[in-house]
Amino acid sequence: MKKVGIILGSLRRESYARKWANNIVEFYPKDYEVKIIEISQLPFYNEEFDEEGPLPEVIQAFRDEMETLDGVVFVTPEYNRSIPPALKNALDIASRPAGSTSMAKKPALIISHSISRLGGFGANHHLRQVLVFLDMPTVAQPEVYLSHSGEAFDVKGKIISTSIISLLLRAVDTHVDLIKRFQ
Ligand SMILES: Cc1cc2nc3c(=O)[nH]c(=O)nc-3n(C[C@H](O)[C@H](O)[C@H](O)COP(=O)(O)O)c2cc1C
Repeated sequence: MKKVGIILGSLRRESYARKWANNIVEFYPKDYEVKIIEISQLPFYNEEFDEEGPLPEVIQAFRDEMETLDGVVFVTPEYNRSIPPALKNALDIASRPAGSTSMAKKPALIISHSISRLGGFGANHHLRQVLVFLDMPTVAQPEVYLSHSGEAFDVKGKIISTSIISLLLRAVDTHVDLIKRFQ
């Protein structure tokens, strides 16, 4: 059984990122365990946690969980043309202590979304820049910018557009291939 963790860039209860993610979970093969890993409990990272202690238990638990994954999916909105701070904080936590990045070499898939037209392009590419430094091989094509999230779901929370479903299936297939190559 392969393990994939989904990290959301939104802490909102009714987040569209969570709705996209709940659909994407279903698109992975049966032998993949895919689940959302919560980040709202994480404190703002302070280097003193690692240098002087004590290291908050939630930070250790998050790093340990990252270590168990075969791949990571990021589903994020864009905040002011960049990455929401909660997501950046989770990445910073995973990246330390220096030299033991708990996400290194984990194949990643980036999915950005927006309630408007641009689909979170700015967040998508700022995140891509961070993942280069974290040494995470990341799906290049297809790029996934999901727009008009407010109109994307039916009453049961399922994605309405068949072309968006096809795009997401292609993205997931490519992610699965990348995971196999890095085993
Ligand atoms: C602080 C803040 C900044 C935002 N900046 C952008 C932006 O740069 N581009 C954009 O398309 N939407 C922006 N939005 C609107 C988000 O697309 C919208 O709030 C979306 O629902 C957030 O994602 P979520 O539903 O997953 O929480 C911003 C929202 C907030 C709260």
